[in-house]
This record gives sequence, structure tokens and C-alpha cells, in this order.
Amino acid sequence: MRVLLVGGGGREHAIAEAISRSRKDPQLYAAMSKKNPGIARLCKDFILIKETDPEIVNFAIRNKIDLAITGPETPLAAGIPDMLWDAGIPVVGPRKLAAQIEFDKAWTRNFMKKYDIAGLPLFKVFRKGQSGTDEYIDEIGDVVIKPAGLTGGKGVKVMGDHFGIEGAKIYAREVLKKDDLVIEERLIGEEFTVQAFVDGSTLAFAPSVQDHKRAFDGDKGPNTGGMGSYNDAKDILPFMKESDYSGAKKIMIDSVRAVRKETGVPYQGILYGQFMATAKGISVIEFNARFGDPEAMNVIPLLENDFLDVCMAVVTGTLGKSKVAFKKQATVCKYAVPEGYPDDPVKDSVVEIGSTNAHVFYSSVYEKDSKIYTTGSRAIAVLGTAGTIQDAEKIAQVGLGALKGRLFSRMDIGTEELIRKRIQHMKELRA
Ligand code: AMP
Ligand code: GLY
Repeated sequence: MRVLLVGGGGREHAIAEAISRSRKDPQLYAAMSKKNPGIARLCKDFILIKETDPEIVNFAIRNKIDLAITGPETPLAAGIPDMLWDAGIPVVGPRKLAAQIEFDKAWTRNFMKKYDIAGLPLFKVFRKGQSGTDEYIDEIGDVVIKPAGLTGGKGVKVMGDHFGIEGAKIYAREVLKKDDLVIEERLIGEEFTVQAFVDGSTLAFAPSVQDHKRAFDGDKGPNTGGMGSYNDAKDILPFMKESDYSGAKKIMIDSVRAVRKETGVPYQGILYGQFMATAKGISVIEFNARFGDPEAMNVIPLLENDFLDVCMAVVTGTLGKSKVAFKKQATVCKYAVPEGYPDDPVKDSVVEIGSTNAHVFYSSVYEKDSKIYTTGSRAIAVLGTAGTIQDAEKIAQVGLGALKGRLFSRMDIGTEELIRKRIQHMKELRA
């Protein structure tokens, strides 16, 4: 079976490995913007190309690809899955109309309201150039400002964290010059992620994961693409209730059904729900139309099924007949990122990787003359897997020790102390 993978980050390295483990005798082809050494090593052939470039379709046709899988969000917004389907190549990754759930936050909030999807915070959409944001911010008081379009996880700003009320007003007006905008109430609680394979109607859910957006220990510093993530040896995280997970699943099922009604297009690919567990129950922070990065690295290695069997079920609409299961193990994933990341990262700096028991994923690095260099984005991820979060954390930490270069990581992700803090936070909110 000839498989095309679009994307070249840590998430895609995890996908590439899962494809390589398949019993379907896969031949892997990749389309990525830089030569990710981990993916390149697993490929029969690859093309270095922007992940939004329609030329990817010709590469797929030339190589007689049987199945394509998109990793990141940018090809979805560019309609690459539509073009591949139109060329007769099935794709794990929703068509553009369905992928709006990620790349247009204004569309998604209006859609949730129209279809009465649970977990919707107070919000208002402002169109580019419109006025009235100051008044709405005064009315809500505690707000989050979200550019409607894709910003690589770095455009959303939260009052209290990033600015006060005056700063929020200035930022809202600034965003509105370039993009539509969503202003919504700031939710207080603990975040968790649920990812699922979706075949248009059936969803197969992975265990819950918690990402860490802030750059520094203790949830300090600027927002990033995600510094690391963990899951427990069961579907829920230590601070969650069973009803948080079942509520999240129901919201995702309802959303997939509603996407089809609204757009006429079946949602086929990965759906990622980002939720906030609050004092009043769960709310939807956002949806993504792909696996998370790093969250993919937590769950994909735990998949018990042949990854390509599940992908085939996604594109043929037969997920209802497959039994998708994940190993009951805890994982902790930590990113090593360049010094200065995310604001002023060191670029083109050498990274060396020593031997380690941890599972190593290459992310935004490139290979030149047999050496590995940083690009300025998240560089290398290490994953520990064990029976408990704490043991998995120790393995990840040893893995970080095997990396040499101008890099830093968060030391607190998955530690007993931080988990205890999360549990205590939810206990206080729920009291
Ligand atoms: P997003 O790009 O929508 O995932 O937002 C980035 C981050 O901003 C999220 O992971 C949250 O930490 C935070 N955030 C987004 N929306 C809200 C909200 N309504 N209340 C509190 N925090 C939020
Ligand atoms: N880690 C968050 C994301 O992939 O959007």
C-alpha cells in the first residue's frame, strides 16, 4: 500500500512511525517543508514543498498513492484534501468545508450556537473593520480575544494572563484591522484534549491528554504551540470526572453530525476537542481538524490496532465495524525547544541526540551534511511510557538529558507536584 503523509513535524513523525509499523506492507511518501530526519528515514521518497502547495497532488498521482494522511492544519485550510479526493485519492483529513471547524473560529462559535452544541461560552463575533469591541469587553469584563483565522496557536490572548482590560481593547482593535474576531468570556478551570478518528458519522476516541501551552515552568511565560503533554493509564486525567470525558465525547459526536448538516460534507479525519473543565461543567475552548502536536505523540503509540486499518475505516466510512483500542498506559511527552523560543528563538543551531530509553521524535529540525539543526520552532520531543504518569515522566526526563544543544524544556510537566496542583485546582473550583 502506497501512503502519502503531508507534514514534517513531531506529530507527523509519530504518524510516520505508526504507518511503518503497519502489516499492510506500506510504502511511505512524504510532502514536507523541511527534511525531517525521522520521517525521511522511514520514507521511500519525499518532496520538500510548502504543505499548502497543490503540487502535492501531482506528487501523489505520480507515485500512485492509495491513501493520503494530512498532519497539520494548513493543508486543510488550503483544500489539499479536496484536491486529493477529486483526483481519486482517499484522505484522512477533512475537506475544506468541514475543516472550517478549526480554521474559522467565528464560523465555529456561530455553528455551535445554531446547532445548540453544549459547552458554548458567552461570545460575540466581530467582522473585520467593525466597531463596538470596547463596549462588549466592558460588558463581559473578563475576556479572551481570538483572531478568527489560523495563528499557529499564538494569536489568542487571555485577560489576566496577557493584558488587562485596556490591553484587551487595544489588541481587539488591532486584530480587527486584519481579521474577523471572536471575543468570549474567559473560562476558569483545567484544560484537556480529546482526539478521535472520524469516518463521517462514527467516532473512535483516544484517551484524554493535557497539553501545556505556556513556555516556562509553573505555567509562566508566553503561549507556545505546546511544550509537552501527558495522559494517564485510563481515559481520564487525574483531575477529571468520568462525566467530563463522556460530556466531551457527546459534544464531538453532535458536532460531527452538525458539520454534515451545515456543510453537506462528511467529516472524515481526526477531530480534536479542546475543553475546559470548570466549576459549572465542561466548555469547548476550540476544535482542531487534526491531531494535536504534541498530543499525537501521547496517543498514537498507544493505538493497539494497525494504524492503516483505522485510516482505511475512516475513508471508507466503516469505523463502526472496527474495534479501536488504546493500551492502558501513561505517557509524558516533553519538547526541547530552542533557547529564546517562542519570541526570539535560536535558529540553525546544532542538536545532538545521545542514546536513551525514551522515544525520540524529530520535530522542527532539519538535516544537513549528517548534522541536525534547529529551525526556531519546537525541535525534539521525548516520550516516556509507563504504568503511571510519574514513572513516564522520569523516562521523559532522562530522554531530555540525552539531548545536546542550545535548547530548553519544561521540567514540571507530568511531575507529581504539578498533577497535585491540577487536582487541587479542580477540587477548589468544584467545592
Ligand atoms: P486556542 O487557540 O483557541 O486553543 O486558544 C489558545 C489557548 O488560550 C487555550 O489553550 C487556552 O489556554 C486559552 N483560551 C482560549 N479560549 C479560552 C477561554 N474562553 N477561556 C480561557 N482560556 C481560553
Ligand atoms: N498542542 C495544541 C495543538 O496542537 O493545537
